[in-house]
Amino acid sequence: MNQDELKAAVADKAISEIEPWLEKDTVLGIGTGSTANLFIDRLKPLRDQFKGAVASSEASAKRLEALGIEVFELNSVGTLPFYIDGADEVNAHLQMTKGGGAALTREKIVAACAERFICIADQSKYVSQLGHFPLPVEVIPMARSYVARQLVALGAEPVYRQGVVTDNGNQIIDCYEFMIDDPVAMEATLNAIVGVVTNGLFADRGADILLLGNPEGVDRIALR
Ligand code: 5RP
Repeated sequence: MNQDELKAAVADKAISEIEPWLEKDTVLGIGTGSTANLFIDRLKPLRDQFKGAVASSEASAKRLEALGIEVFELNSVGTLPFYIDGADEVNAHLQMTKGGGAALTREKIVAACAERFICIADQSKYVSQLGHFPLPVEVIPMARSYVARQLVALGAEPVYRQGVVTDNGNQIIDCYEFMIDDPVAMEATLNAIVGVVTNGLFADRGADILLLGNPEGVDRIALR
């Protein structure tokens, strides 16, 4: 199976995971990226079984709406039963690196409102230590150089993601050569730098369930 087939398999599995819980008033939290897109596409036949979705990006919102699924503002809904999203890296504690698609801030906000975070990923994303994938940091544009200097002091090699403006109007710095020993502590350290909006470590609030695709099938790893 190639990577796309593994992503499709975990998207299928995520549908099986949530379908029994769908009710007429259910609003789902939906992530961003190619794996999340496959999940979104699989929601179409179920669209009459739930109320709608909150999207973590403009791109996902457009995709949902094109399928006839109503998209709600997060402020107009309460707690979401599920947030379903991919990851750039995930470890055995279901801590993740996210933001390869520059949607990290909205992803973290929607995930914070969810009772259960279901991470859907192919086996290439599973790592023993976070940091192989360059860690994204969303910054207020005027703070970019200042934040980059603080990231160097922490041991990272920061690279400005040229030409990318987030849905929030901000910029992204990717941290290379930055292996993370303590994801929860580093998430807090990075968030404390003035000018940082969010960083791509999802450690303090990691996933609750990981659906991990491999050629033998989809493993379900649940911590809570
Ligand atoms: C977007 C993300 C994505 O979840 C992450 O980049 C994984 O994407 P893909 O499913 O395309 O591999 O965090 O900001």
